[in-house]
Amino acid sequence: MTMSTAAPGLTRRAVSLTVNGVHRTAEVEVRRTLADFLRHDLALTGTHLGCEHGVCGACTVLLDGLPVRSCLLFAVTVDGHEITTIEGLGSLKPDGTMQPSPVQQAFRDCHALQCGFCTPGMLTTITAGLKENPHPTVDDAVEMISGNLCRCTGYQNIVEAVLRAAELMENPDAPLPDEGFDADGDAHGAHGKDGEN
Ligand code: FES
Ligand code: FES
Repeated sequence: MTMSTAAPGLTRRAVSLTVNGVHRTAEVEVRRTLADFLRHDLALTGTHLGCEHGVCGACTVLLDGLPVRSCLLFAVTVDGHEITTIEGLGSLKPDGTMQPSPVQQAFRDCHALQCGFCTPGMLTTITAGLKENPHPTVDDAVEMISGNLCRCTGYQNIVEAVLRAAELMENPDAPLPDEGFDADGDAHGAHGKDGEN
């Protein structure tokens, strides 16, 4: 008995999409995940792969502005859509350097990363979360990142960065937080406590 092989035309398909504001076209294997497409075909390696089955959130990118696990999507399924990765969060300044987004700036201000493996997924998740809820409480911030795993930070500085990013979105010159969190987990200083904005 001879083994049949799929016709080449059935295993590869053309995709056309916008990635970080740039129109891209490519021919991909129909089983190519969006994560592998971004990392290997488009060289956008800022999107990280951890569990590869939808649990850790490291691979989160924005699909038409909404956070999705790129390890769970096939590239062909996002044909015609708009993808934003961590490489597309900042903006280019006239002098050619990058202006970090408020969420990126907040992570820097609050020391919200250690190894950085979870950070791309955290940044994209929080970017979408703050668009939906620009005035989060501490509880809202915890809920916002609850689908993303971080094995380094203990999450408190990430939660504070969510609140700091919300401040920066309202006032790019908002003073830096100086005291962080109380032992009970409440933010203080410039940030709102739970139930306050
Ligand atoms: S790598 Fe996609 S959720 Fe973990
Ligand atoms: S900073 Fe290391 S996993 Fe989050």
